[in-house]
Amino acid sequence: MQFAVLNEAAQGETRVALVPDSIKLLLKQQHAVLVQRGAGAAASIPDAQFEAAGARLVAGAAELLGMADCLLQIRPVSIGDAKAVPEGKALIGFLAPLRNPALVQILAQRRVTSFSLDAIPRLSRAQSMDTLSSMATIAGYRAVLLAASHLPKFLPMLTTAAGTIRPAQALILGAGVAGLQAIATARRLGAVVEAFDVRPAVKEQVKSLGAAFVEIPVAENLEDKGGYAKQVSAETLAQQQKLLHQRVKLADFIISTAQVPGQPAPRLITKEMAADMKPGSVIVDLAAESGGNCELTKADQTVRYNGVTILGPTNLPATLPLDASRMFGRNLAAFILEITTENGFTMDWKNEIFAQTCITLNGEAKPQRRAA
Ligand code: NAI
Repeated sequence: MQFAVLNEAAQGETRVALVPDSIKLLLKQQHAVLVQRGAGAAASIPDAQFEAAGARLVAGAAELLGMADCLLQIRPVSIGDAKAVPEGKALIGFLAPLRNPALVQILAQRRVTSFSLDAIPRLSRAQSMDTLSSMATIAGYRAVLLAASHLPKFLPMLTTAAGTIRPAQALILGAGVAGLQAIATARRLGAVVEAFDVRPAVKEQVKSLGAAFVEIPVAENLEDKGGYAKQVSAETLAQQQKLLHQRVKLADFIISTAQVPGQPAPRLITKEMAADMKPGSVIVDLAAESGGNCELTKADQTVRYNGVTILGPTNLPATLPLDASRMFGRNLAAFILEITTENGFTMDWKNEIFAQTCITLNGEAKPQRRAA
C-alpha cells in the first residue's frame, strides 16, 4: 500500500506522522511511503532523512492525495480534512468517532475507509500502538516544565550562602499516563509531590515514584473492567472537592490530568479553591480541551486569578516535536503493520484492534457492528 505523510497544516502543529525509522519498518513489509516536502521541518527532520529512509518526496498536497492509498494524519481530523480526502481512499488519524458523528457520516458518504487511533483498545498487545499514551507522557513531562517556568520560586530544596530554600510542593490530580509522568518529572526536579486519583489501584505506582498518595475515601467503586475511571456522582465530587481543598491550599503548583473517557473532564478545582492558593501558585490543566479540571481554565489561554496563574495548553506534544513525532511514528507503524498486509487492510474482524478502530468502510459507519 502507498501511505502519505502530509505537512500538518494546523496552526501550531509541529509534529509529523512518520519518522525515517518508522518508514523503514513499513518498507520492509512491502509498503511504500510518500512524504510531502517539508513535512518534518518543524520537527527538525530534514527531507533528506526521509529520502535516505526510502520515502518518495512529493511537493504538493493535491498530488500526494491523488497518488496515495491511505493518508496519515497526526492532528485530530476535522470535517474540512475529511472533505479533502479523495473519495474511496483510506485515512488513519484521531477521529474521536463518539464525539464526532458528523465527521463519521462524511467519511462514510465519501466511501473513505477510516481508522481511529483513539479507538485502539488498551490491551497489552496494543501498547506499542498506543499513540494517546505516548502523547500523554509528553504532556505530563512538559506540564511540569511549564509550571516551573511560571513559578516565582525554585522546585528543589537549595542550601545556599543566602540561606535554605524550601522545595516546591506539587499536587498532581489524576495518576494515569500523564499524571504518573508529571509525578516522575516533578520528583526529578526536586519538588515534594503528592497525588490523588479515584482509582485506589494507582496508589502503589504513585508511591513507587516517591510521591505521597492523597487518601479520599469514597463509597463507590470507581474503576471499570477496562481499568479506566468511571464518572463520579455529584455527591462524591462534592466530597472530593471538600477534602481536596486542604491539599490545594498547600500546593505551589498543580498539574491536573483527571479524565473519564468520553465524558467532560471532572471539575475538581473550583474558583474558590483556586482563590485560596498562595499568591504566585500555578495550575496547569491538561484537561482543558475537554472542559478543564479547574473551573477557571480557558483552553490555550493564561488566566490570572487572585495571584494564581492557570494555564490550559491543549497541544503540549507539539512543543516537543522531535520526540513526539518519533513516538507517534513508532506507534503508528506498529498499528499499520497490525491492520494491513502488503495488499491492503487485513479485514480481520476477529482481531479486536482492527474491529474497534475501523470506523467507516464501503460507505458504512461502524462496520464492526455489522461484522460482529
Ligand atoms: P488516563 O486515562 O491515563 O488518566 C486519567 C486519570 O484520571 C485516571 O487515572 C483516572 O482514574 C483519573 N480520574 C478520573 N476521574 C477522576 C477524579 N474525579 N478525580 C481524580 N482522578 C480522576 O489519561 P491520560 O492519558 O493520562 O490523559 C490525561 C489528560 O491529559 C486527558 O484529559 C488527555 O486528553 C489530556 N492530554 C492533554 C494533552 C495536552 O497537550 N494538553 C496531551 C495529551 C493528553
